[in-house]
Amino acid sequence: MTADNPPESPRDLLEDIRSDVEQFLSGIPLDGTPRDLYEACRYVLSGGGKRVRPIATVLAGEAYGADREEVMPVAAAIEVFHNFTLVHDDVMDRSVTRRGRETVHVKWDESMAILAGDLLLGVAYELLADGPVNTAGAVRSAFSRMVRRLCEGQALDMAFERSDDVSVDEYLKMIDGKTGALLACCLECGALAAGAPSDVAANLHHAGVELGRAFQIQDDLLDATAHTERWGKRRGQDLIEGKRTYLIVDALEQGGATRSYVRDALGRGGFEPEEVDEAVEQLATSGVLDRAADRVSVYSESAAHRIERLPAGTPRDALLALIDQLNRRTH
Ligand code: IPE
Ligand code: IPE
Ligand code: MG
Ligand code: MG
Ligand code: MG
Repeated sequence: MTADNPPESPRDLLEDIRSDVEQFLSGIPLDGTPRDLYEACRYVLSGGGKRVRPIATVLAGEAYGADREEVMPVAAAIEVFHNFTLVHDDVMDRSVTRRGRETVHVKWDESMAILAGDLLLGVAYELLADGPVNTAGAVRSAFSRMVRRLCEGQALDMAFERSDDVSVDEYLKMIDGKTGALLACCLECGALAAGAPSDVAANLHHAGVELGRAFQIQDDLLDATAHTERWGKRRGQDLIEGKRTYLIVDALEQGGATRSYVRDALGRGGFEPEEVDEAVEQLATSGVLDRAADRVSVYSESAAHRIERLPAGTPRDALLALIDQLNRRTH
């Protein structure tokens, strides 16, 4: 190694992959007709986003010797699929803002959100077929299993909105589907695309589920507390919609005054927008916010322990750096 050519640091590698992912995504042809349908798809894919999933996929692939160009279509397939789920999720959650802009069903209408989402799902499968040929079968079946699990999780999420009581265990089962399945799929498919054996894929799958728990609980926490423009979604949306987030299920399990306070609001279908600050204050005072932050750290650490088993090298260290960044994220 010469002074002119220093080894790439984990953080540099993360940025390098992030920029390759953006470039690959912007090269996906989306210029068909009807024009407004394709415009909605381009609007979604060019709207930013942290690109956590494709970066994780590429890193898992590179940790097991894949070439970046080979694994990139699989990574892009996962990011496009993720964007599809967001468009439909915003309809289900009645969300008006995402990534600092109007959601598709608000900017266009619900039919457009359904169709743009469906089209993106088709694009995701096209991209998946462009991945490495030798490992295509294993990647495709892991991906399809994920689709099913994610839908199951989203169905539970919606059913919980009508439920009087949801336990923390039930909540964890729900987020393992709606969020964990996709993060697990990233790490698993990256390694599978590189030809890694099934025990490696299984370890990465579990790491992804742990990471998914940390990620979703953090998302629930930020939904109530984020104060930066970069959050890009309406703060308090979950409280207003009466979503059974980690904060709510924990408050219900605690009992006492916090439980009555939360149950009362849920009975009315959720908090009023002007009640959000008071509700967050109440959740802070009763320790709910601190417990959520602790859970995020615990699940991040479990994911990191599993990632430490990967072959030593910059991709592994970059995955650990990514987990650390996510643990401290504010958007
Ligand atoms: C949002 O995912 C959906 C959840 C699982 C909470 P991200 O927070 O990764 O969204 P983008 O892609 O960065 O916008
Ligand atoms: C996201 O859950 C899960 C999926 C989109 C599959 P949320 O509903 O919490 O995600 P945000 O907060 O709208 O991004
Ligand atoms: Mg949702
Ligand atoms: Mg949502
Ligand atoms: Mg959320």
